[in-house]
Amino acid sequence: MAPLITLISGCSTGIGMELAVRLAKDPNSKYLVYATMRNLGKKDALTEAAGDNLDKTLFIRQLDVTIDDQVKSIYDFIMEKHGRIDVLVNNAGYGFFGPLETMSMEKAKIMFETNYFGTVRLIKGALPAMKKQKSGSIVNISSIVGHLGIPFMDMYNASKFAMEGLTESLRPQLKEFGIGISTVQPGPVTTKFGENMMAISDFDDNSVSEDTKKQFLEFRKVISNPDIFSPQTAEPVIDVIVKAIEAEKPRLRYPTSQNVGDWLAKRYVKEDVTGTEGWF
Ligand SMILES: NC(=O)c1ccc[n+]([C@@H]2O[C@H](COP(=O)([O-])OP(=O)(O)OC[C@H]3O[C@@H](n4cnc5c(N)ncnc54)[C@H](OP(=O)(O)O)[C@@H]3O)[C@@H](O)[C@H]2O)c1
Repeated sequence: MAPLITLISGCSTGIGMELAVRLAKDPNSKYLVYATMRNLGKKDALTEAAGDNLDKTLFIRQLDVTIDDQVKSIYDFIMEKHGRIDVLVNNAGYGFFGPLETMSMEKAKIMFETNYFGTVRLIKGALPAMKKQKSGSIVNISSIVGHLGIPFMDMYNASKFAMEGLTESLRPQLKEFGIGISTVQPGPVTTKFGENMMAISDFDDNSVSEDTKKQFLEFRKVISNPDIFSPQTAEPVIDVIVKAIEAEKPRLRYPTSQNVGDWLAKRYVKEDVTGTEGWF
């Protein structure tokens, strides 16, 4: 069988990188992977992890999901070379943790450009070919926060809620064309995500009041408790992503652990589980 032509965003590190390598090393050579990243200066780790598969089943290409021309170029290249696209994984994304008033509008917009509109751009690019083929699999890496509002992650929450809405709305339309679309919803994963999120968050901004600082610091203690959201390594998350890609009848949503599933279930039983009472 011809390999599944696969495009993954955000493969310089973390979940994207591990997923790209897992698929490229499939024992039955089921996948031919375009592992993309916005900064090719960061490709060494992926090059090393890909090993002998580099330029055989795994190809590294540049793609910043916020840039229309780069999205067009990657699809032009794939269509010219293969004439099809079978699997799209929208993985590129990042978070922000802090009081909303400390996030500039510029940062808020760039976050949506990446986490949400980046996903929109890549789906729009894949749909003409997938609809023509009458097949395809789209997996959007959302989060537990795509369904559960967690304090001080307001804009990140909103970007993942938007991704969930987009996925849910497209799903019945795409099903008619034999295309599956799902979200995968991890809780905390031990990648560089948390570190990167703290690096761009401006908590020390003097514009917040003492009361807000106190509330934020209290919440940070609560949310850091591993008993609340037990962190996972990337490996079980990759297992779930592969399950979503390969499912004959993919589900709409895939929480990546029992812990995440339990939280999302609670969300529907007790709507104010995310309210002040539940957290502070
Ligand atoms: N780790 C978690 O706790 C967690 C939990 C729930 C959901 N998720 C989601 O899982 C996905 C992957 O996160 P991760 O844990 O693997 O984090 P990560 O290690 O920080 O990786 C994020 C990736 O996204 C890339 N990226 C950021 N902006 C981009 C852009 N404009 N264009 C292309 N790539 C871009 C980064 O590239 P650079 O190296 O160039 O920055 C990096 O490759 C994200 O969508 C995240 O929201 C993560």
